[in-house]
Amino acid sequence: MADEKISISKRRLSRRKFMIMGINAAGAGTGLLIAAPIVGSILSPVFYKSKQPWVLVADIQHVPVGVPTAYVVMLNQGGDAWQVPPVPRTVYVVKVNLVNQVQLITLSNVCTHMQCDVHWDINLNVFFCPCHGGEYSMEGTNIAGPPPKPLFRYQHKLVGTTLYIRNVLTEGN
Ligand code: FES
Repeated sequence: MADEKISISKRRLSRRKFMIMGINAAGAGTGLLIAAPIVGSILSPVFYKSKQPWVLVADIQHVPVGVPTAYVVMLNQGGDAWQVPPVPRTVYVVKVNLVNQVQLITLSNVCTHMQCDVHWDINLNVFFCPCHGGEYSMEGTNIAGPPPKPLFRYQHKLVGTTLYIRNVLTEGN
């Protein structure tokens, strides 16, 4: 009789444990359902970046060293879900003379202060922003006026002398 009571109590205990495990599992499942979109939105830029296509700029063989040269390319702006048509963007191709080698930089022309378009001023020898007088060096470094950061740089690759960029921006020097 006593053994029977113990056995029933154990069974009840195991049923209780089972219920607790079930509740915990349901809680964990709900937590995952809530967390999945948050984690997805955090990670999506990583996947978004890798999906940006390479876009042909030009054969840059004859771009002179020390003379920023502007090209307009059509760049994809959106990811998969929010696809919008490509829009024209100006990229400045800059060949900078370093010791024994030429460095290639592909600069965005968007001012880092309030997003006006900058242009290369051949007389001042700077990228000049007409909105508030911001100035950047040939490498895109902010050197005068209100811009808080250097110009952004497009990711680029060379195939022979042909330049491609994609709409992935990195902070300049
Ligand atoms: S937007 Fe370029 S200096 Fe203000």
